[in-house]
Amino acid sequence: MTTPVLDLGSAWWGLVPAAGAGRRVGAAIPKQYLELGGAVVIDLTLATLLDHPRVQGVVVALDPNDGHWPHTRYAAHPRVWTAVGGAERCHSVLNALAVLAGKAADDDWVLVHDAARPCLRRSDLDRLMSVLADDPVGGLLGIPVRDTMKQAGLDGHIQATVPRDGLWHAFTPQAFRLGVLRRALGAALTAGHWVTDDASAVELLGLRPLLIEGHADNLKITRPEDIPLARFFLQQQGRTC
Ligand code: CTP
Ligand code: MG
Repeated sequence: MTTPVLDLGSAWWGLVPAAGAGRRVGAAIPKQYLELGGAVVIDLTLATLLDHPRVQGVVVALDPNDGHWPHTRYAAHPRVWTAVGGAERCHSVLNALAVLAGKAADDDWVLVHDAARPCLRRSDLDRLMSVLADDPVGGLLGIPVRDTMKQAGLDGHIQATVPRDGLWHAFTPQAFRLGVLRRALGAALTAGHWVTDDASAVELLGLRPLLIEGHADNLKITRPEDIPLARFFLQQQGRTC
């Protein structure tokens, strides 16, 4: 008897925007280079993608003046390439897509995953890839909103209570076909929409990406208090000391 092989359709690639300065964390170095329990944030992020047997390679977008990258674990990896980052995340992703277009086909899948999300579980990545394998559009990991949502007015007082039903936090990875995502981001930027995630660009084309529920520990390190939290999650996952 043979073991059934999970059919994940066409080729998959990783794209990791890592050109941010980490201003809100306010550390001496960009947050993707901080060390958490003996491991560097970007090394953890890249390991999850590169260890996946269906991911062919990863393009990392870097600040042109980044002096930290060359000292990281995957800087000289044969399946890792770099691109020049831009003013905002959307520009960095578009530049990295141009590099990827020299290696991948238009129909190949691209997993765009923030460098600042080192706690992605392999099981969540597997789930995203298997749910989307035959999907015509693509989608992303996220979690449904749990708290009651309030809309504030300019004076800081509540303007309205926003119905929580159907509201989600959008995480990464966000997975789209290379050609579609490149077209979507190019059109969004040309129209002056500096979108904060990849799905937003695809939505502007009139398409409807799929939301796939992941785990809340896939946090984006954003503020100083996220650092001990990320360290705790990584310890729980047995990935750091
Ligand atoms: N990013 C990028 N290029 C930019 C800005 C951000 O590649 N010009 C990347 C970051 O490195 C990060 C991801 O996009 O992995 C999500 O962005 P964010 O959390 O906003 O990170 P920073 O921009 O570094 O943080 P801050 O906004 O606090 O400065
Ligand atoms: Mg930012």
